[in-house]
Amino acid sequence: MKSTAHHQALIIALDFPSAAITLDFVRQLDPSHCRLKVGFELYVAEGPNFVRTLVDLGFDVFLDLKFHDIPNTVSSACLAASKLGAWMINIHALGGKKMMDAAVDTLKSIDKPPLLIAVTVLTSMDQQQLQGIGIQQPPEQTVINLATATQASGLDGVVCSAQEVQILRTHLGNNFLLVTPGIRPENSDAGDQHRVMTPSQAIKTGANYLVVGRPITQAPDPIAVIEKINQDIIQA
Ligand code: C5P
Repeated sequence: MKSTAHHQALIIALDFPSAAITLDFVRQLDPSHCRLKVGFELYVAEGPNFVRTLVDLGFDVFLDLKFHDIPNTVSSACLAASKLGAWMINIHALGGKKMMDAAVDTLKSIDKPPLLIAVTVLTSMDQQQLQGIGIQQPPEQTVINLATATQASGLDGVVCSAQEVQILRTHLGNNFLLVTPGIRPENSDAGDQHRVMTPSQAIKTGANYLVVGRPITQAPDPIAVIEKINQDIIQA
């Protein structure tokens, strides 16, 4: 596992529609102050070469494409993602043990593999939604079960809500990455995120990486927000 300086616990979600807009934003940033996350919107609009562009600018890139398919397809996609120079990639734990094992095995065969983490239960799914697809147990138990399976398959960690960090640390120990979105600096707008935590609260409960999007990308002075978050992280 890569060592992580705490001032780089911040991952900025680049939820922008185009490369041009993204680059205008990214050009203000310093790769030693943050990492970047590329999700579906930007990836589908601009493709793999844009990921290479961000990597070539010196940034660690979390390619958040949440692969979920048969083992062969997912492990091949993970391999392709590593060739782009991604620092971290992710898959869905609901794809099952064989799928996760295949991804881990494939990445073992390459020289500098990216960190591989899994999504457990999407935070947009509540108890009622889970029951609607036949999952009867409480969401928290499902998260614990899927994160435990993720660790057993040898992945590096999971994406989880900050509210789940404490219980997952208890079950999974310290040598497992917990990457948390839904982070809001004090006094910032929660937007569509329901259960939010401040950067320092999330780090104190045991998160390794914080994914922050709109509080930075929509701010009048993004650099000031980044500096404030990094200070909070260091103090925590
Ligand atoms: O703008 P905001 O800080 O809410 O962005 C959070 C980012 O984290 C978005 O890119 C969103 O897709 C992602 N994410 C999330 N909740 C999850 C998984 C990913 O908000 N459970």
